[in-house]
Amino acid sequence: MHNTIKVTDKVYWLGANDRRTNLFENMWPLPNGVSYNSFLIVDEKIALVDTIEFGSSDDYLDKIEEIIGERTIDYLVINHMEPDHSGAIKTIVEKYPNIKLVGNLKTFKIVESYFGYRDKWHQVEDGDGLDLGHHMLKFIMTPWVHWPETMMTYDLTEKILFSGDAFGSFGTLDGGIFDDEIEFEEYYLEEMRRYYSNIVGKYSNMVQKAFKKLEGIDIKYICATHGPIWRTDVKKVLSLYDKWSKFEAEEGVVIIYGSMYGNTAKLADSIARKLSEEGIKKIRIHDVSKTHLSYLINDIWRYKGVILGSCAYNSGMLPIMENLTRNLEHIGLKNRLLGLFGSYSWNGGGVKALFKFNETMEWDLVTDPIDIKGIPGNDSFDRCEIIAKAMAKKLNA
Ligand code: FEO
Repeated sequence: MHNTIKVTDKVYWLGANDRRTNLFENMWPLPNGVSYNSFLIVDEKIALVDTIEFGSSDDYLDKIEEIIGERTIDYLVINHMEPDHSGAIKTIVEKYPNIKLVGNLKTFKIVESYFGYRDKWHQVEDGDGLDLGHHMLKFIMTPWVHWPETMMTYDLTEKILFSGDAFGSFGTLDGGIFDDEIEFEEYYLEEMRRYYSNIVGKYSNMVQKAFKKLEGIDIKYICATHGPIWRTDVKKVLSLYDKWSKFEAEEGVVIIYGSMYGNTAKLADSIARKLSEEGIKKIRIHDVSKTHLSYLINDIWRYKGVILGSCAYNSGMLPIMENLTRNLEHIGLKNRLLGLFGSYSWNGGGVKALFKFNETMEWDLVTDPIDIKGIPGNDSFDRCEIIAKAMAKKLNA
C-alpha cells in the first residue's frame, strides 16, 4: 500500500491533484493547480468524507479498494455538494450500492436535483452524531461556507475537523500533504488568500458564524477539501481565516488602474513613487486590463490601502475597471482606505463613477479624488502627492 497516505492510523487522504484545469469554476486561474481532498475513515463501519471532481483521478476507486479490499463503504458524508466534491458520488454509489449518503435537508435538496438516490438518504441535523465503532462523528451546520448546505464533520475520537471548503487553498499538493511538510509562507499563503478572497470571501460573515460554532472544540487536525492538511500548526490556519473574514489587512497599498493611452498609468506611477517617499514599502501596481480579477481581489484583500484609477470611457469608467468594482460590490469587502484618481480628454466620468462605487462600499476615502484633463503635468503630480501623503498618514495612524 505504498500509494496510500494516512492522516492517522485509520483515516486516509484520497485526494486528487488537478494540474490540467486552467480555470477553477471556469473563472479563477489555476497556475499552480488545485487539489480535491477526499477522506476515508476505516472503522467497524467505513465512511468516506466528500469525494473528488469528476474525472480528476482515474484510480480513485482503486485506491479505496487497496485500503478496504472487499469491504464496502457504509457512509458517504457530503459536507458540500459543489461538483468539485460531489463529482464522484455517482461512481461511488455504483460501486457501493448499499452506501448511505449523509447530509442535511439542504444537501438533499441539491442531491435530489443532481442524482436522486432518495432511498440512500441519511439526514442529519446540527449536533447529530454517527457512530462508526471506534470513531464518533458529529455534524456541525456551517451554512454558506461556501454554499447554503455546507456543513463540517468533526471526528470526536481523533479530533479531526473535516471542514469542507473552509481553510482550503489553491495549489496542488506536490509531495507534501501536511502543513509541516510544505513551504507554506513561500508558496501556499498567497494561494490560500487568493482562494479565500475569490471563493469564500463573500461569505465572510458566515465564516465568522462558523468560528463561533467551533469555539471550545479541540481540533488536532484540519482536513479541508482543498490544499494541505493541518496537524502541526492548526492555530495558524484558524487565525488566517479569522483575520481575512474580519476584513483585517496588512499595511500596504495596491494601486489598480485602467488606462487607454497611458495618462492614468502615469498618475499611478507618480502616486506609487510618492507613497514610497512616505516610507510605504509594500506597494503593488496592477493594470486592470492585464492582471486577472482573481489577483486583483487577492491584493485588495491583502492590503489596507486601495487606490483605484480610471480613464473616462463613454462618460463612465473603463468597462474592465467597472467589472472589478462590480465584483467588489458583490463580495462586499469592508474596511479599506481608498484613494481615487483618473484622467479624461473631453468630458470625464471615470473618476465620478469610481466615486459613486464608493457610495456602496463606504470605504474611508483618504482625500478628494483627482481627475486630470489631458496629459498630466507638474500640477497633476502635485495632486498625486496629496493622495499619497493622505494615504500614508492614515496607514501610519
Ligand atoms: Fe470546493 Fe465550494 O467547492
